[in-house]
Amino acid sequence: MKKLNVFVVASAVLLSLVAGVALASPHGESKEEKKAILLVAFGSSEESAQISFENIDKSVKKAYPGIPVKWAYTSHIIRKKLAGQGKQLDSTAVALAKMVDEGFTHVAVQSLHTIAGAEYHDLRRVVSSFKSMGDFESIILGYPMLATQKDMVRAVDAVLGTIPKERKANEAVVLMGHGTHHPANAFYAALMFQLQLKDPNVYLGTVEGYPDLDTILTLLKQNQIKKAYLMPFMSVAGDHAKNDMAGDEDDSWKSIITKAGIECVPVLKGTAEFNQFVDIWVDHLGGPLSHFDNSK
Ligand code: CO
Repeated sequence: MKKLNVFVVASAVLLSLVAGVALASPHGESKEEKKAILLVAFGSSEESAQISFENIDKSVKKAYPGIPVKWAYTSHIIRKKLAGQGKQLDSTAVALAKMVDEGFTHVAVQSLHTIAGAEYHDLRRVVSSFKSMGDFESIILGYPMLATQKDMVRAVDAVLGTIPKERKANEAVVLMGHGTHHPANAFYAALMFQLQLKDPNVYLGTVEGYPDLDTILTLLKQNQIKKAYLMPFMSVAGDHAKNDMAGDEDDSWKSIITKAGIECVPVLKGTAEFNQFVDIWVDHLGGPLSHFDNSK
C-alpha cells in the first residue's frame, strides 16, 4: 500500500514536471517575460464618450509606465458602427489572440465596467478560455469599479466630490446607472444607501434595473425636491446619458422629472471623465500586475 502511494506521488510529480517543461517552452522556444494590459469596455460610438476612454488610457499609462496598453470593446454593434467610420476596434477574443501572436506572456485584463454584471461575467468566460488554452503564462482579470466595500467607500467619495459646486443641500442629485437583470444589480441600491448616509438628497436610479425612475421620483416628491441635477453613473456620457437621461423626448428622465414640477439640470459627464472614479479602476489593475511580479 505504502509502495503504491509512493509510486503514485512520484508519477504525479514526474508528469507535472514534464507538463511544466512543455508549457514553459513549447517546441523548445524559451519565452522572455512580456507584460501587457488589456482594457475592456462595452464601447461607445458617441464622440462625447471618447474623452472618458482617453482619460482612462492616459491614467493607466501614467500609473504603469512601460507596459503596453491595448483596448477591446465588447459590443459587436458598436464595433461594426465604428468600422463603418474607419475605426478598427477589437473584441476581447481578437485582442487577446493578437497578443498571443505578439508574444506577450503576462496579460492583465481590466474590466472597465461599473458592476460585475452580465458583461463582466461574459468577459470572465473569455479570459478563462485563454487561461485554459495556456498561450499566456498568466492572464488575470481585474475587478470592475464596484467590487469590494473599499470600492463602495471610494465611489461614495467620488460621487460627492464630483457634484457641481453650485448645487445646494436641499437640491437633489439624481444619478443614472445602467442596471441589469443580473444579480449584481443590487449594487446600485447598496450604493444609494451608502450615499444617502452622507448626503440624503443623492439618488441612484437605473435605466434597466432597480431602483427604477418611478421609485426615485416617489422619493423626490416625498422629500419635496424642487431642483435636481441629473448625472450619468456610467463610465461614458453616451447614448443613455444624451437621450434617456437628458433628451427632449417625453420618456426621458429630464422630461418626466420636469413634468413632476422639479427643475432639471443635466450634467453630461461620464464617471470616467473624473479621476476620482478612474483611480478605482486603475488601482484594481495593480492586483493582477503585482501577481506577475511575485511569480518571477
Ligand atoms: Co444600454
